[in-house]
Amino acid sequence: MTQTASQTLLRGRILDFHAEPEDDSHTSAFSYIEDGAILMSEGHILATGDFASVNEMARDAVIVDHRPHLLMAGFVDTHIHFPQVQVIASWGAQLLEWLNNYTFPEEMRFVDPEHCATMAGHFYDLLLSYGTTSAVAYCSVHRSSAEAYFTEAAERNMRMIGGKVMMDRNAPDGLLDTPQSSYDDSKALIRKWHGKGRALYAVTPRFAITSSPEQLEMAGALAAEHPDCHIQTHLSENHDEIAFTRELYPDAQDYLGVYERYGLLTPKSLLGHSIHLEPREIDVLAETGAKPVFCPTSNLFLGSGLFDDQGLRARGITNAIATDVGGGTSYSMLQTLKEGYKVLQLQKQKLHPLRAFHWITRGNAVALELEDKIGTLAAGSEADIVVLDARATPAMALRMDRARTLSEELFVLQTLGDDRAIAQVYVAGVAMKAD
Ligand code: GUN
Ligand code: ZN
Repeated sequence: MTQTASQTLLRGRILDFHAEPEDDSHTSAFSYIEDGAILMSEGHILATGDFASVNEMARDAVIVDHRPHLLMAGFVDTHIHFPQVQVIASWGAQLLEWLNNYTFPEEMRFVDPEHCATMAGHFYDLLLSYGTTSAVAYCSVHRSSAEAYFTEAAERNMRMIGGKVMMDRNAPDGLLDTPQSSYDDSKALIRKWHGKGRALYAVTPRFAITSSPEQLEMAGALAAEHPDCHIQTHLSENHDEIAFTRELYPDAQDYLGVYERYGLLTPKSLLGHSIHLEPREIDVLAETGAKPVFCPTSNLFLGSGLFDDQGLRARGITNAIATDVGGGTSYSMLQTLKEGYKVLQLQKQKLHPLRAFHWITRGNAVALELEDKIGTLAAGSEADIVVLDARATPAMALRMDRARTLSEELFVLQTLGDDRAIAQVYVAGVAMKAD
């Protein structure tokens, strides 16, 4: 007897994006189905559509009824620091002082593989409880932290991108590698993890301040040898950081010129923050296809500045959005949108709720060049799905009584929602939350 793979059918209201919508009138950019279904098998989506027609093609599917909740692709966080789960919510400092006083001491503890494993368990529990099914993370300088990061992701079959940070100066001794050891350790991790299951590696020089020119050259070599790996670093987050970088690299034209010189700017490059940019730097972003990453809760918390989403978009640049925990103050991509909305309001820029939810799903997937795998509910995609309850709290339910449109519901979710609004989350077709 031939055995057919088991199927699961999720029923509920469905929102899926095909392009970036500007507003409600841009109906070709998204599908909304009132009585919808997603059919899944072996970790992938077989079909998404109206319940009646998807149910007809299902074979012995287990039906899970999520009505009246809203189903969409799992959230994607494009910049987060795994070793900062015990740094989040540290008082009173701006970037460089915050790094020295809180972050570096905490990251030193990741020299211990047992600590790494324990924290990795917490890290993924947190991501999933907030509806984040994929993320791009900085591990600590220690190879053991990246091992724990990828091992735990594999346990849960999550599509995760990450890398050990390369840092060889301007930090305590316990956090420093060397140009050669950072190359060797990154190389070994790439060989072991990149493309294994759902894991992908990101070459991760922390930022120009903590890397010597020799180390950035090694990072550029790794990026050239592994063009399908991502590259991640930080750029122009804070004025003191920029001034220190200019001192350390006096020959560079500007901050971005440092990364440019070492071959670190490609469409796979993710540049955390990118707030205080010179006109030439914006030209280089547009030319190279490197992606700025907007981290609103972090930018507000560390007093870093206001990200110019509209200005960069007007130049054809694709911006990603992310939490940046532990500079960021929430694991929630909903809360990230809430603060992002306010950062843009302060600059008289708009963030429509449809564009917002596109951003944390398909938009971030596009920024990662992974939209054929994650970020949508298209047939063939990996079955990472979030189930949202816009009435999760009394305040939300009361507000929802007056909501008349999908966009209003989305705005309630992003303004008032957090982990309580995540009714369920599926990773590669498997429910991750206890009912
Ligand atoms: N720049 C270099 N390292 C970091 C970090 O850990 N967090 C933030 N927000 N900025 C950085
Ligand atoms: Zn960061």
